[in-house]
Amino acid sequence: MREESKNILNPEYLPKHIGIIMDGNGRWATNRNLPRFMGHKEGSLRVLDIVKKCYELKIPYLTLFAFSTENWTRPESEVKNLFLLLRGFIEKYIDEMNENEIRLNVIGDISPLKEDLRKSIENSLELTKNNKKMVVNIALNYGGQDEIIMATKKIAEEVKKGNLLPEEISKETFESYLYTAHQPPMDLMVRPSGELRVSNFTLYQMAYSEFWFSDVLWPDFTPEVLEKALGDYMSRNRRFGGI
Ligand code: IPE
Ligand code: IPE
Ligand code: MG
Repeated sequence: MREESKNILNPEYLPKHIGIIMDGNGRWATNRNLPRFMGHKEGSLRVLDIVKKCYELKIPYLTLFAFSTENWTRPESEVKNLFLLLRGFIEKYIDEMNENEIRLNVIGDISPLKEDLRKSIENSLELTKNNKKMVVNIALNYGGQDEIIMATKKIAEEVKKGNLLPEEISKETFESYLYTAHQPPMDLMVRPSGELRVSNFTLYQMAYSEFWFSDVLWPDFTPEVLEKALGDYMSRNRRFGGI
């Protein structure tokens, strides 16, 4: 294929799976002398813009890091606000997502969440579970290390029960126990906010991701910024260990 057809309107060259660490909400607000919560609120609007953009571009999998296993260390009021915002967001947009055949999926352990939020999430997962156009994974109480440990425990249980032999544990077997079972690996991992780290995001799925970092803070992350990331992604030469 000639170079010029590698433009972002050609789904053949676009990533199949994008992950985004939605970071920088607090700093965005602080820079404007606003409470941190206002940054989260503005950031939640970018979620909508970016989901829409990915949908238009026919990117089938989008994983958004919303709350990490480490974010519980924040003040209780901020955690509470984040969950309130999340619930409001899901309830406001779930029908529109469903009409557009988008499947909402949650990766992470939602069992410690308050019952009303958990119920709201579970209803949304159930409502959209058969949708095929796009999967939006929200990483919620998610940690890459936690996920690997969770999968390992489940595999150990199967071995203990005699359903699986240790020598049968392949890459495919292991992957089928992750939250992202049956999803493609992450092709592109985007982190705004200027931090150059992965902060316990999808450690396993990022084995061959292209990384794209930007100083833009998440509330300023417009679809144009995503287009820039995609343009850079397509100009890279992914070798997967080959020559
Ligand atoms: C990301 O923004 C949102 C979550 C982690 C939930 P931050 O709240 O981490 O924003 P900064 O990093 O403090 O600017
Ligand atoms: C990563 O951002 C988690 C989310 C965006 C949900 P953090 O703000 O928690 O990460 P650190 O603390 O800068 O590593
Ligand atoms: Mg942060």
